[in-house]
Amino acid sequence: MHKKIPKVTLNDGSKLPAVGLGTISLKGATGVNELLSAFNLGYRLIDTSTNYENEGTVGEAIRRSGIPREEFIISSKLPGSHHAHDEAILMIQEQAYRIGLDYFDKYLIHWPNPKVGMYVDAWKALIDAQKFGLIRTIGVSNFLPEHLDRIIEETGVTPATNQIELHPYFNQEELREYHAKKGIITESWSPFGREKNDVLEDETILAIAKQHKKTAAQVIVRWNIQLGNLPIVRSGNHEHQKENLAVFDFELSQDEMNQIAKLTKPDGRIEDQDPAEYEEFV
Ligand SMILES: NC(=O)c1ccc[n+]([C@@H]2O[C@H](COP(=O)([O-])OP(=O)(O)OC[C@H]3O[C@@H](n4cnc5c(N)ncnc54)[C@H](OP(=O)(O)O)[C@@H]3O)[C@@H](O)[C@H]2O)c1
Repeated sequence: MHKKIPKVTLNDGSKLPAVGLGTISLKGATGVNELLSAFNLGYRLIDTSTNYENEGTVGEAIRRSGIPREEFIISSKLPGSHHAHDEAILMIQEQAYRIGLDYFDKYLIHWPNPKVGMYVDAWKALIDAQKFGLIRTIGVSNFLPEHLDRIIEETGVTPATNQIELHPYFNQEELREYHAKKGIITESWSPFGREKNDVLEDETILAIAKQHKKTAAQVIVRWNIQLGNLPIVRSGNHEHQKENLAVFDFELSQDEMNQIAKLTKPDGRIEDQDPAEYEEFV
């Protein structure tokens, strides 16, 4: 029997579980089993993307789980190759067919690709797709304040969430403050630094974890929650999946939050993916 995950309310009135499941590399038959393991533990917010080549896998796991569709918050993303308004609408329809659902509960523009300069068009497509029920909550990913300002000014619609790289080595303080002013929820991607940085072995985090008889991963999830972020945690391992949800029975002190805040570095991005420069088309 799983415990229900507390919920966070978005600026469009909808509610999301306070922790989401990342799905990069959860693919094929193994991926279906890994997803079913997570569903059994109570994960309901599932973050996928065309780029992860697993929308079919996620759809298969949903169907096999026997869990009512309405319990899930299925979130996908618009690839950079489809920012033009009508292409975006067709892409969302195609993704819905791939995953085997009539609608996405949440849908994001994956990257702004500012050099291409079509993200306002893409945002208008999400607004339209929301109007005719193809997607529900609309948000963005990897948007900087200048991109957010532009879409809000040109459409009058503020995204509900902005999913950004965020971990103790890159804590995005300024962008979080901007989000708070606009009522945008910060979703944290790669909260554990993927397999690429060693944040799970950081001495400060391990010392705090020991103090609470928790693991480094649990401290990082808890730190996100206390900052008001919604962490998207990825694990294919049942024990890790379980561990990453067991974060609602302890609290980090202000001093511990301050210690973690000091770990951030200006060049702390995992792969130097600065959205002002970095582009992604899938
Ligand atoms: N919007 C974007 O541009 C963007 C970019 C990147 C990621 N994302 C989203 O964010 C999600 C999470 O980011 P990510 O996949 O890059 O990586 P991540 O969640 O930072 O890290 C995943 C790694 O942490 C390990 N792990 C998880 N829980 C653990 C635990 N309790 N103890 C020890 N190790 C643990 C996993 O191994 P095990 O599987 O063995 O547990 C895996 O190797 C993605 O899957 C994706 O949905 C979005």
